[in-house]
Amino acid sequence: MLRLLGRQALVRAAAPAQNACYATAAIPQPVVKPDIQHTGIFINNEWHKSASGRTFPTFDPRTGEVTCEVQEGDKADVEKAVAAANEAFRLGSPWRTMDASERGRLLYRLADLMERDQTYLASLETLDNGKPYYMSYLGDTALSIKHYRYYAGWADKIVGETIPADGNSFCYTRHEPVGVCAQIIPWNFPLLMQAWKLGPALAAGNTVVMKLAEETPLTGLHVADLFREAGFPPGVVNIVPGYGPTAGAALASHLNVDKVAFTGSTEVGQVVSELAAKSNLKRVTMELGGKSPNIVFKDADLEQAVEGGHFGLFFNMGQCCCAGSRIFVQEDIYDEYVERSIEKARQRTVGDPFDLSTLQGPQISEAQMNKIMGLVETGKKEGAHLAHGGGRHGDKGYFVQPTVFTDVKDDMTIAKEEIFGPVQQIMKFSTVEEVIERANNSIYGLAAGVFTRDLNLANRTAQGLRSGTVWINMYNDFPSQAPFGGYKMSGHGREKGSYGLQNYTEVKVVVTAMPQKNS
Ligand code: NAI
Ligand code: MG
Repeated sequence: MLRLLGRQALVRAAAPAQNACYATAAIPQPVVKPDIQHTGIFINNEWHKSASGRTFPTFDPRTGEVTCEVQEGDKADVEKAVAAANEAFRLGSPWRTMDASERGRLLYRLADLMERDQTYLASLETLDNGKPYYMSYLGDTALSIKHYRYYAGWADKIVGETIPADGNSFCYTRHEPVGVCAQIIPWNFPLLMQAWKLGPALAAGNTVVMKLAEETPLTGLHVADLFREAGFPPGVVNIVPGYGPTAGAALASHLNVDKVAFTGSTEVGQVVSELAAKSNLKRVTMELGGKSPNIVFKDADLEQAVEGGHFGLFFNMGQCCCAGSRIFVQEDIYDEYVERSIEKARQRTVGDPFDLSTLQGPQISEAQMNKIMGLVETGKKEGAHLAHGGGRHGDKGYFVQPTVFTDVKDDMTIAKEEIFGPVQQIMKFSTVEEVIERANNSIYGLAAGVFTRDLNLANRTAQGLRSGTVWINMYNDFPSQAPFGGYKMSGHGREKGSYGLQNYTEVKVVVTAMPQKNS
């Protein structure tokens, strides 16, 4: 009991109090060595080996050692999965003739099964990704379960309009599924990104072929088996683990795929968009990178703003598309803000993510760790002040010290490029107009934060910012009901909420001649 209470206090310390999803909970102990049950390719509700006979390793980011081998899906496997998804989408198939409410019931069932397996799933997520177990449990798995339930409720509420069109006709719209959807997801939130994509796609009646990130295939494969157990018809959900330039590209360029939804780097987003355009102009939605501003005005509740800046950046080891990686602080409070932020970074516990007192685990991979270390060097070279950290933590695995740069200037590389690591950039500003302009001076436009007690100032600033999300006096809040997505090169289309359904439906208008008299 004491341990749990201690844990709750830590959870509160790790997240802003207003972030309800992490507020209070009793967490069951993790399964430190979860038994790995599924490493295959999931097509037609069955497990397959790769056509090529190849496998690929997934690593434990705590040590860099291989956790297990997974079947490596490639073009030939994608062919099979796309054929299965097309067959499941055929007119008259069990999926197409199922009541919409029944689709919802299946999604509720899936959420119940995830809840049954929540401790196992959260443990497996921590093993594969390295994120602290308490976050996997209270964050990733809990939010994923809520997300499936949210879209389960939508399944029989997706409605069109009846339209008073000119002339003598009966005119209505139907919001129909797009068809076979390819979904390519990243490694930073494996379960949650799977949920964000599958929830709306299935509620709207589509069938799916999903490619998991090669760094984190394990939890997505367990959930695949839960789809089978929940009773989804064969071919509705197909899951292919494998690499991007092979399996991912085969999906993006496939002629029998109607839509591709992608989350990942802006660079690969451009490749996927091009493949989609050049093959069959399949519909595209993109959730890409960011360099999100977090603006702190001089009248802000300083404790809240420091916490918001810290959590906004260090959450998930900084591996977050919406990380608040440009913190603009008004000059009057700059020095105090910097001092308190450094102290917070100093207190951040780094270590084994299965340990319940750990706030920060390892980065996902050696490549990501090296990229971060390279950008830290660039920051130093270009004249930013390294106020804390800046090195690896330990010499095993992919741990990076919580790092704080101050006196960062807009034209420095670390103020422009996505670092995707635990590296905070703090900058100074003087006026509202200036900070809005500087905040918008980025190729990205995913999210932003504003800290002030003046709600007029907050909303005026929010309206001036060109980004898909603005958090006021909070950061990193992801309710299923609200849309998420980017302006500019952060992508297009929205996930979550009712807006998320728009990208998974086609609008059909049906017009029937309706003479005024019966003959
Ligand atoms: P990535 O963009 O290469 O990977 C994301 C997904 O795209 C993975 O499933 C990958 O297999 C797939 N992919 C890669 N190349 C592909 C291709 N040619 N065709 C189709 N699919 C392809 O991201 P990566 O290499 O893991 O990380 C690089 C940087 O991207 C990070 O440092 C970070 O800045 C950013 N990133 C952003 C994410 C976000 O949530 N917006 C998530 C992951 C990375
Ligand atoms: Mg890549």
